[in-house]
Amino acid sequence: MFEICPETDADTYEVEALYDLCFAPGRTALSSYRLRDGVPKVADLCLVLRDQYNTMLAAIRYWPVRVGEATALLLGPVAVHPTAQGEGLGGLLMRDSLTRARTLGWSRVMLVGDAPYYSRFGFSRLDDVEMPPPTNPDRVLGLELKPDAWVGIKGLVTREEAGPVLAALAEIAELPHIGNACVEVDHPRDAAEGETRHGDEQREEPPTGASPDQ
Ligand SMILES: CC(C)(COP(=O)(O)OP(=O)(O)OC[C@H]1O[C@@H](n2cnc3c(N)ncnc32)[C@H](O)[C@@H]1OP(=O)(O)O)[C@@H](O)C(=O)NCCC(=O)NCCS
Repeated sequence: MFEICPETDADTYEVEALYDLCFAPGRTALSSYRLRDGVPKVADLCLVLRDQYNTMLAAIRYWPVRVGEATALLLGPVAVHPTAQGEGLGGLLMRDSLTRARTLGWSRVMLVGDAPYYSRFGFSRLDDVEMPPPTNPDRVLGLELKPDAWVGIKGLVTREEAGPVLAALAEIAELPHIGNACVEVDHPRDAAEGETRHGDEQREEPPTGASPDQ
């Protein structure tokens, strides 16, 4: 059993340590970090996943960015502890956070990453969106949270600097309920086994109408 919770100030050190462990040294020199400097995170979408021993195994963060005149979410970094990679935990955080983003009314999300991984969540290349250099355009990916949300959106990705947006995000980060919006989730492996067992049980049931004595 795992718990997914919005990241709080008390989690920050562990999240940074996890990112340092999972990414190459100098990660903060990437151009995407310049879009985040001094901009409040989207607090209700920044999530941490802990196991039953309270060990942090995965984390995901989101920032607001501007593409032309439009606001978008910049997803990342997302990382899973090396001892737990490949078990579906990254997928859990991706799906949970994207569901929260949709529920909260965000329209579009983008990231810089490997298309072979992120395409499974619906991300595809954003041909008309340009990240600050040096960024490989093949790694600039987007997902629509509302129909056609990326249609007509083009241009350079820049920092979100609109006062009302920043003020609203800073306010959200202070809300007391943020730290309480946790969900418990099964390990993806257990969930898959449960489904298989359920399927096997169904197959073992006697045909309809047959009594156990026959
Ligand atoms: C990338 C990462 C977040 C994925 O999380 P995870 O929990 O390990 O991945 P999941 O268990 O959800 O998914 C595993 C699947 O993703 C694939 N996958 C993982 N990383 C991939 C990558 N970079 N490119 C393509 N496929 C990848 C695995 O091969 C596996 O495929 P399968 O389902 O066909 O067997 C995690 O491996 C990680 O933290 N890596 C180091 C940091 C990093 O690269 N972060 C992403 C950049 S922002």
